[in-house]
Amino acid sequence: MTTAHDDPSFVSPALEEAKRNKLMLGLFLPLQSGAWSPSLAPRETSWTFDYNAECTRRAEALGFDLVFGLAQWMGKGGYGGEMSFREFSTDPLMVTAGLAAITERIMLISTVHVLYGWHPLHLAKFGATIDNISGGRWGLNVVTGYKPSEFKMFGLDPIAHDARYSKADEFTTLMKRLWQDDDELTVAGDHWQLEGAYVAPKPINGRCILVNATSSDAGLDYAVKHSDLIFITSPAGADLNKACEALPAHNAKIKARGQAVGRDVRTIINPHVICRETEVEAWTQHQAILDGQDAVAADNFYATFAGGDQSSWKGTSRDQWVIGGNVHIVGTPEQVVEAFQRLHDAGCDGVQVNFYDFLPDLEYFGQRVVPLMQQAGLRL
Ligand SMILES: Cc1cc2nc3c(=O)[nH]c(=O)nc-3n(C[C@H](O)[C@H](O)[C@H](O)COP(=O)(O)O)c2cc1C
Repeated sequence: MTTAHDDPSFVSPALEEAKRNKLMLGLFLPLQSGAWSPSLAPRETSWTFDYNAECTRRAEALGFDLVFGLAQWMGKGGYGGEMSFREFSTDPLMVTAGLAAITERIMLISTVHVLYGWHPLHLAKFGATIDNISGGRWGLNVVTGYKPSEFKMFGLDPIAHDARYSKADEFTTLMKRLWQDDDELTVAGDHWQLEGAYVAPKPINGRCILVNATSSDAGLDYAVKHSDLIFITSPAGADLNKACEALPAHNAKIKARGQAVGRDVRTIINPHVICRETEVEAWTQHQAILDGQDAVAADNFYATFAGGDQSSWKGTSRDQWVIGGNVHIVGTPEQVVEAFQRLHDAGCDGVQVNFYDFLPDLEYFGQRVVPLMQQAGLRL
């Protein structure tokens, strides 16, 4: 299905404000029990709405540009182990609707698996609703689902990798038309039919912010056509030095593909940050997370990402999966900012950080790292 590559009428003030920074700053919300780390080392991190609402309020107060939540469909026990890693998770679309009502400035991005039985009209309506509640701050992270087990939960046959993106292309194209067209829409698509379909109110800025996460060719074709922000992973695993070697070419490729279709796309990577006053304290915490690992959960978590047909997340070792996230940044506030500078120099437009013990780690980050980012010119 073809569509205009750019939306000249779409200007999101929240996104434009974020882009004024050399490095956008996002928080990865811990909507899943255990968040990113299959470890039993002590922490208070919680999947509950109240905990995530507090993380979001604090992130907004500390000047973050966005919060983002992951979507997943796990069986009983999640990834298993003593902690039943990620068994509990709230739905990011529902959570962002709640967050929209209690925040004022921060962008709220929620992940939706658009191929699990959704109709574009549903998501166009629900998205426009959250967009209106939030005053134009809502964004959709379109995911196509890389786990056959999730398709089966919905009674669906898994779809081959590239076919997922062509189906998502039709879905997104129709959803955007429902947001943007003034008239009722009647379309017989390859996968969806609409007759006299219409959405009002429209999203405040013409359409909602669109995001996706990919590394593959088919995924990037989709991403540069539709997305404003692209979540990337290091092609060389979680080690910062190796990531910074591999990322310049990866980012350049994505930007060039965007420019080829007349679009200015921005990339965001998600580092796991362990920051303390001294380097020794930071590495001690890193070791404590590793030592506290729930071996069964870690094995299962690692196996999911090491296998599968997705291109993202490859090259990360099992131990790196115990810490979680993508690039690992461990050190003092000054070292964290230096690492961010390196990621920026490697072509990343933003960092979406995750932590181990979210609220205290976020607070410390806000007090100690954000001011240094400002001093370094990475943040306004
Ligand atoms: C930062 C980030 C967040 C993601 N969030 C989700 C998610 O919430 N749910 C999901 O099923 N997949 C998620 N994914 C996986 C992607 O949607 C996609 O399936 C994966 O990147 C593989 O795509 P690729 O083969 O095009 O690289 C995420 C990926 C990244 C990098």
